[in-house]
Amino acid sequence: MLIYTLQAMEKLEEILSKTFDIPSHSNVVFKVIKLLDNEYLSIRDIEDFLSYDKGFASKFLRIANSPFYGMTRKIKTVKEALVLLGINTAKSLILATSSRYLYKRFGDFEQSLWEHSLGVGICSSFLASLTKLAEPEESLCCGILHDIGKVFLNNAMPDDYPKLYKRIINSEKSSAEIENEIFAVNHVEVGVEVSMRWNFPEVIQKVIEYHHQAPYPYDEDTEHKNICNIVRIANHICHKLGIGFKKYLPNSIDLEDIGLDSSSLEEIEKIFLSQFNEQKDLLIN
Ligand SMILES: [Fe+2]
Ligand SMILES: [Fe+2]
Repeated sequence: MLIYTLQAMEKLEEILSKTFDIPSHSNVVFKVIKLLDNEYLSIRDIEDFLSYDKGFASKFLRIANSPFYGMTRKIKTVKEALVLLGINTAKSLILATSSRYLYKRFGDFEQSLWEHSLGVGICSSFLASLTKLAEPEESLCCGILHDIGKVFLNNAMPDDYPKLYKRIINSEKSSAEIENEIFAVNHVEVGVEVSMRWNFPEVIQKVIEYHHQAPYPYDEDTEHKNICNIVRIANHICHKLGIGFKKYLPNSIDLEDIGLDSSSLEEIEKIFLSQFNEQKDLLIN
């Protein structure tokens, strides 16, 4: 549970007022989040959703036909892709593709932020399948959205935030500590607020709130503990490997928190990197 100072609340309102006026495509992400939260979603619903944007549908088909999904024949229609991939994979692919629309402008800095989010999503999904502690698709979505607060801080302060980020990368302090010093509010607080106002599924709200917190708070319901730990560790792995931004890490990567042996880190990084490189170009271009 986050408690805000008066100064933080004022800053938060200022940032959020700029957040909810994002033009055009942010709507797409909002609709995608609603899709994610609908457990009774049908293939027809997703087909309808994709039919609103031809570019989006063709990108979805290109991804479905990539070697990563190992289809033995060419998929020609969205419906075919949805049947073969399954609804959950389709939902997470749609979020991965649409998350780019959250950015008000898209230069090198935003590209790095986005690459980091995708990296954490893909790594979370990999760790979830390895440990069987969470659903891979849900983990992908949570990973993609974990730093959504940074996107909105950057949207609200497009000149100041990239400059501040240079300090974050080279500092031993955490990004949240430096954001607090400069803006009186940090990306976790902004992310939590956005996720509550947009009614994100509870699991995504919890991951946004606890993706930097170890150990997981003892007074919280443990329902989302595993997925929060998975995304936190995936975040560390991505920073260590320089996915998005290379950041100094004060602590070692505690794979034990998700039941893995610390000696397997190198192997995990190797497999994840090859998965990431395979999917990155498809999702980013
Ligand atoms: Fe973060
Ligand atoms: Fe992150």
